[in-house]
Amino acid sequence: MDTMTITKAGGALCGALLIFLLGAWAAEGLYHVGGGHGDDHAMGYEIEVAEAGAAAAEVEAEPEVPFEEVYVNASADAGEGLWRQCSACHKLEAGANGTGPYLHGVVGRDKGAAEGYSYSDTLATMEGDWTPENLSGFLADPKGYAPGTKMAYRGMRDIEDRANLIAYLATIGG
Ligand code: HEC
Repeated sequence: MDTMTITKAGGALCGALLIFLLGAWAAEGLYHVGGGHGDDHAMGYEIEVAEAGAAAAEVEAEPEVPFEEVYVNASADAGEGLWRQCSACHKLEAGANGTGPYLHGVVGRDKGAAEGYSYSDTLATMEGDWTPENLSGFLADPKGYAPGTKMAYRGMRDIEDRANLIAYLATIGG
């Protein structure tokens, strides 16, 4: 074998290898194109995700957090500032009745039980104690909770404000 023969043989080998590699690459390309209709599945998946998101949003719009849970994190300090809304008619010292009954120790007290105070029939005959939950119900809407009450207060709408105010009242007497 002379040098020329070796060079030709080498060239032919390289050419064969190149054609083989090109063929393999082309086959791989075809394989991927063949899998192309997977797009439909991708779309279906996206729609499912969107529906799940809408369902989660509906759950979030459910009724507000129960009062007990808000009350656990209530701040008596924040509530002290809200007492101004009550102080025109109520005093905190035991026995000091004004337009309204004294509220010393009112949290846990019997309804309609301030000594020497003349209640409406509604409060005088109402059963139960002023638990934090009951106070929250009364303060949110006095006339709704106790129809016929003579407490002329429009109500405190914010549940956190009520929880804070009641936490403050709980520090006074009781
Ligand atoms: C405009 C005057 C007025 C304001 C303001 C007012 N109250 Fe009263 N409150 C009354 C009167 C009057 C009664 C007695 C109601 C009855 O006999 O029906 C009363 C009764 C109550 C009772 C029932 C007490 C018991 O012994 O059963 C609670 C509790 C109470 N008030 C809390 C509050 C709180 C807390 C505030 C402030 C957020 C407030 N009130 C604001 C006039 C007022």
